[in-house]
Amino acid sequence: MKAIVIEQYGGKDQLIEKEVTTPTPGDGQILIEMHATSINPIDWKLREGYLKEMLPFEFPIILGWDAAGTVKEIGSNVSRFKKGDKVFSRPATTNKGTYAEYVIAEESLVTKMPENLEYGEAASVPLTGLTAWQCLFDFGGVKEGDKVLIHAGSGGVGTIAIQLAKNAGAYVATTASERNIEFLESLGADEVINYKETDFKDILHDYDFVLDSLGGDIQEKSFEVLKNGGRLASIVAPPNEDLAKLKGVKAGFVWLEPNGEQLDQIRKLIEEGKVKPHVGHTFEFSEEGLRKAHELSESHHARGKIVIPIKA
Ligand SMILES: NC(=O)c1ccc[n+]([C@@H]2O[C@H](COP(=O)([O-])OP(=O)(O)OC[C@H]3O[C@@H](n4cnc5c(N)ncnc54)[C@H](OP(=O)(O)O)[C@@H]3O)[C@@H](O)[C@H]2O)c1
Repeated sequence: MKAIVIEQYGGKDQLIEKEVTTPTPGDGQILIEMHATSINPIDWKLREGYLKEMLPFEFPIILGWDAAGTVKEIGSNVSRFKKGDKVFSRPATTNKGTYAEYVIAEESLVTKMPENLEYGEAASVPLTGLTAWQCLFDFGGVKEGDKVLIHAGSGGVGTIAIQLAKNAGAYVATTASERNIEFLESLGADEVINYKETDFKDILHDYDFVLDSLGGDIQEKSFEVLKNGGRLASIVAPPNEDLAKLKGVKAGFVWLEPNGEQLDQIRKLIEEGKVKPHVGHTFEFSEEGLRKAHELSESHHARGKIVIPIKA
């Protein structure tokens, strides 16, 4: 099968096209014929070697951890799916990712694809959707009436986190640059703060929850908007424990765990029209396409998700 791999860490030129053996599904596994994948910042962070201690994979590494496609083959003891089913998944984090024509996923991590989505839209959901879900609900316990601040609302995680929080009945503030303000209002955000003009900490007070996807001084300032008993989930850097204690805030680093059941709950919200994925950019499944896609993701200014269609 065709895959885009890296054979060593480095810049985007390390992304190369290669013929590799199509994997065979084992016990409890599904072989997905890939119709689309999407890009996440973890892809280029891993490519650069920033995650080599946390994820010490052998080369060649196939990057990418979002899958949408059809079931091509099932292993033994797979009961919920059959050949031809349309599925999506955030497969386990292995060195055989989704920049490929086929990928293996555990049945427990695979979910029926939302009926109202194209493959590209579906591929944009699993990693960011599960991250947002686990931050908001598993860590943050966000519920109706809570005041929630989602940083970088126009990013992959932000666009879906805003919608999940709104659907849970929260009041949602978010940060974005001017060009994304209308877009985020259209997703349901109650308050969009232009981070280039206004410091969020000067206007937000007594918040229940912050989703930090930026770290550094933005994370530090986020403590100031939280009320005593508030929660701060960071997906980029472990929060300062002393500050958390001082402010009476539950703060922690959340690292996404693939989870098929939660993905199925997100699927239902998508089918009910309560959550709508936003594909902002598309690149072709080739060395050149993936290099351009990484370049855009590394700029930190993609809008919504970057998608790679694989099979028409
Ligand atoms: N721990 C985990 O399990 C986990 C899971 C997923 C993601 N992450 C991490 O979370 C981070 C965000 O991921 P993502 O997929 O959402 O990224 P992304 O899609 O690349 O985010 C891009 C967005 O960030 C916005 N942005 C950039 N600087 C900003 C600022 N100073 N204030 C507000 N918005 C700003 C940009 O909006 P403008 O163009 O308007 O500036 C852009 O729309 C990444 O570092 C990623 O690695 C971690």
